[in-house]
Amino acid sequence: MPVHLPPDELAAFRRGEAPAPMLDLIGLMACHAILAARTLGVFDALAARPLTADELAASTGADAAGLEQLLGVLRATGYVERQDGRYANTPPTSAWLCTDSPVDYGRILGLWQAIVTERWTGLADAVRSGTPGGGFYTWLAGRPDLSAAFHDLQRGLAEWLSEEVVATVTLPEGSGSLLDLGGGHGVYSGAFCRAHPGLQGTVVDGAVTERTDGPLTWRAGDLLTADLPGGQDVTMLFNVLHGFGAADAAALVARAAGTLRAGGLLVVMESLPEPPGNAADVAFGAGFSLNLWHTQGGALHPPETIREWLKEAGCAPGPWKELARSPSHAVLTATAP
Ligand SMILES: C[S@@+](CC[C@H](N)C(=O)[O-])C[C@H]1O[C@@H](n2cnc3c(N)ncnc32)[C@H](O)[C@@H]1O
Repeated sequence: MPVHLPPDELAAFRRGEAPAPMLDLIGLMACHAILAARTLGVFDALAARPLTADELAASTGADAAGLEQLLGVLRATGYVERQDGRYANTPPTSAWLCTDSPVDYGRILGLWQAIVTERWTGLADAVRSGTPGGGFYTWLAGRPDLSAAFHDLQRGLAEWLSEEVVATVTLPEGSGSLLDLGGGHGVYSGAFCRAHPGLQGTVVDGAVTERTDGPLTWRAGDLLTADLPGGQDVTMLFNVLHGFGAADAAALVARAAGTLRAGGLLVVMESLPEPPGNAADVAFGAGFSLNLWHTQGGALHPPETIREWLKEAGCAPGPWKELARSPSHAVLTATAP
């Protein structure tokens, strides 16, 4: 958690009298400290009960002097507190950083640390030349631990949002076929199939093992070049367009539209480049978009641009609908002629 600053100190940073980058340096240090603490099992040990530094060292098998230094950073940045010589997790740590926290943000942090450390190299050259580094999915495929974290993250978000998405999107009457382009885990298509008995789904994705499970079939393929099944009642592009530059994203929209029967429904979900949420969502969105650009040649495309691509593909798009559970995500439906 960013170091808590009293208003007068914060004002000095804002006025440029204190070095604002120092706060980012502290954040960088905190990120590494959190990941080290998780590796050592510090937060899980403190979840059981408050411990002295010596007890914590014995419980985690860490060197007492080293651990005391680590605890110093975690305490200064609000992840642990000390009372009567005993350390305890703070509420943000219990909520987000223990193995049994409702959301394991430590895994997300570990994934992003690896992405930024390993894939944001060459950023200045890329921005100067206009040539992103690219190669994200090839890199990810070679890192099974990070790949599992990435796909679990997509799955977790989908499990959280799918109920609302299914309730928000009205499928054409009697829909029997659904194509989920870049559907990965298949959570969204699975939720639609459960809500619409008789609906059969096909997931096409570059990072899946081909298989069939109930109403869902997974096919491996590149979205820009694979043969895609036609005559679909519904085709979905969920969190996929942002992985492509504008030209390829527009081409993918046209390909997706081409899979629909007359009157079929194209459903798009995307992260908004300017989310209506709080300052943290806005700042994360900017970093996310930069990451998409540099590591995949993509971007968070403006919602109006995506609507134009849908029109160019011959579809009639409706308005974007923000999701109540995550206002930085929105869905849009478009009907094929
Ligand atoms: C951000 S994830 C979204 C997954 C899922 N649609 C969701 O919303 O949770 C993007 C997915 O697109 C797949 N993907 C990205 N580029 C692809 C390509 N060129 N061909 C096939 N699949 C691709 C990835 O493997 C990944 O599963």
